[in-house]
Amino acid sequence: MADLRINLAGIESPNPFWLASAPPTNSGYQVQRAFEAGWGGAVWKTLGDPILNVSSRFAAVSFNGQKVAGFNNIELITDRPLEVNLKEMYETKKKFPDHAIIASLMVEPKQEKWHEIVKRVEDVGVDGLELNFGCPHGMAERGMGAASGQVPSLVEKQTYWAKEVAKTPVIVKLTPNITDITATAEAAVSGGADAISMINTINSLAGVDIDTWNTIPHVGGKGAHGGYCGPAVKPIALHMVGECARNQQIPIPISGIGGISDWKSAVEFMLMGATGVQVCTAAMHHGFRIVEDMIDGLNHYLDEKGIASVMDIVGKSVHKYSDWGDLDLNYKVVAQINNDLCIKCNKCHIACEDTSHQCIDMLKGQDGVGYLKVREEDCVGCNLCSIVCPVDGAIEMVEVNRDLQPMTWNERQAVIGSAALQAEVFGK
Ligand SMILES: Cc1cc2nc3c(=O)[nH]c(=O)nc-3n(C[C@H](O)[C@H](O)[C@H](O)COP(=O)(O)O)c2cc1C
Repeated sequence: MADLRINLAGIESPNPFWLASAPPTNSGYQVQRAFEAGWGGAVWKTLGDPILNVSSRFAAVSFNGQKVAGFNNIELITDRPLEVNLKEMYETKKKFPDHAIIASLMVEPKQEKWHEIVKRVEDVGVDGLELNFGCPHGMAERGMGAASGQVPSLVEKQTYWAKEVAKTPVIVKLTPNITDITATAEAAVSGGADAISMINTINSLAGVDIDTWNTIPHVGGKGAHGGYCGPAVKPIALHMVGECARNQQIPIPISGIGGISDWKSAVEFMLMGATGVQVCTAAMHHGFRIVEDMIDGLNHYLDEKGIASVMDIVGKSVHKYSDWGDLDLNYKVVAQINNDLCIKCNKCHIACEDTSHQCIDMLKGQDGVGYLKVREEDCVGCNLCSIVCPVDGAIEMVEVNRDLQPMTWNERQAVIGSAALQAEVFGK
């Protein structure tokens, strides 16, 4: 069995699966049950004030039979007094000394407020702190959460204030509601952060009821923007993790969050640079026991690949994630249709004919039976036909042009640039 233990900026946990700061980590009762189920760590529901909330709070975006493709909420931070949370954190840490308990914090952007809350939570024995600069609603209107997290100087300053007194590692949780997340990640580094976590939720409105004309969700007929998460946000989160992981100015560990619902998505985040992952929506949808499949799946994956420790996969795909200008313009794939598997639904033909490069012909064999064939010389290798094909393996994308030397756009520009220079200097 592979070693699933992780060490994220000094915070140790028996496996890389943590519950994210959210309703599943609202109380000692829940966190203790989660640890019993197998979760390696928990980021406690954000502490701070004010203690208030609205009803209703959540909405799901269903798509094509998937009940919770995306999840939207307008909930604020904890609705329980600080003293109660601190007492339960202390008790939980005592019962589960080997599991990671992280205190998520959100206070006004004032030095004394950060000093006070950091000292109080560290007194109860937490393993680390997560500064919540990410929540997009409610608290942001009061200068906290995403309102702080969208201003790099505020991220840097508040991280610095927390670090002035913190004895445990400080993770800065970033908002995705910003043009370039590396700007705030770099600010966290400048402020002395030991790690960053991403993403918090994305600004959203889940829907509008076309009969009542109310927003979804609504509070007595009025709505406000919420935070989007769940499977739908995974590609956005994965991109942001990758951008930070490949940025040399951000040399600190990353805790990956956003749409993680199984061991495979956790592996993807770790390959793209996350040292561990946090999960919220999937636990809210399916319960704490999903972690059993996550642990089993990760164990099998590592054993099959002969990898001794999960820490060995961290960042293994980062060098493969680059800028468009570094892609090989001479690499070419074309579609090939396997007519033994093809069910003749013609979806590929329609997609190619209507919205791509019109290179799938409908032909008739000598026996008079129709079949589909790709004109390889006109195929640009866009993948659309294989994406819309309902039968696995019926359309394969195969590499052609193998003899050509790789040539990126950046290299091409350099060649063109030097040719233009030669022409200018030597008049050729
Ligand atoms: C109902 C709800 C409440 C949340 N509350 C908090 C919070 O108090 N603090 C925080 O940092 N993130 C909070 N989050 C964000 C999650 O921690 C997480 O960043 C986000 O949901 C993305 O992960 P997921 O796709 O696995 O849900 C909340 C999310 C939801 C759905």
